[in-house]
Amino acid sequence: MELLRISVATKNRHKVEEANIALKSFGIELVPVDVPKVEIQSDDLREIAIYAARAAYQYLRRPVVVEDSGLFIDALNGFPGPYSSYVYRTIGVEGILKLMRGVEDRRARFVAVVAFALREDWIEVFEGVVEGTIAEEARGSHGFGFDPIFVPFGETRTFAEMSSEEKTRYSHRGRAFRKLGEWIAKNIDKLKPLLQT
Ligand code: IMP
Repeated sequence: MELLRISVATKNRHKVEEANIALKSFGIELVPVDVPKVEIQSDDLREIAIYAARAAYQYLRRPVVVEDSGLFIDALNGFPGPYSSYVYRTIGVEGILKLMRGVEDRRARFVAVVAFALREDWIEVFEGVVEGTIAEEARGSHGFGFDPIFVPFGETRTFAEMSSEEKTRYSHRGRAFRKLGEWIAKNIDKLKPLLQT
C-alpha cells in the first residue's frame, strides 16, 4: 500500500509519534512541518484547534492537520484544560500534585481535538477522550507532559509507565487520530485530488 503523507503543524515529537502509531494501519503518515503557532485564548479546545488549522492552511496553502489537547481534572473544575501547556511549563507535574494533595476525587480526562484543514473553508474535526485518575505521585519516564500522573481507567500504570504503542491504544490522541484515519479511508476518492501534491 502506498503511504499517504499529510502535514501536521506541531513541534512535539511525542504527538507525531503517537499520531503515526494510530494512523499506521490506515496507510497514513503525518509529516511535521514548521508553521508559526497561532493559538487563540479560549476555554474550548475545538475553537482553538479549528482556528489554528485554518491559520496553518493559510500559511502552507495545502492540507494540514493540527492537534490541540489538554488535561481536565474534575476536582479542579476542569483545570488546567485548554491551559495545560502553560500550566505544565509553569507549575508542572509537581504543581498539580500539590493542588491535588488530600483530594479524594481524583477523576480526570485527557481530551484531544484534531482539526484537518482540507481547504480554507473545509475543516473536519475529530475528538478523542480518555477517562482516568490523577496518581498520588509521579511514576514512569516515558512520554511527555502529564503522563507520569495520569492512570487511564482499567489500568494501574501511568501513561509514563507504558510504551507509546500501549499508551496510544487507550489515549485521547490515539482515539482522535483513529477517527481521522477512518474518515480519510471512507472518503479517499473525494480527498485524493486534494491530498496529492
Ligand atoms: P498543546 O496541545 O500543545 O496546547 O498542549 C497540550 C498540553 O497538555 C501539553 O503540553 C501537555 O502538558 C498536556 N497533554 C496533552 N496531551 C498529553 C498527553 O498525551 N500526555 C501528557 N500530557 C499531555
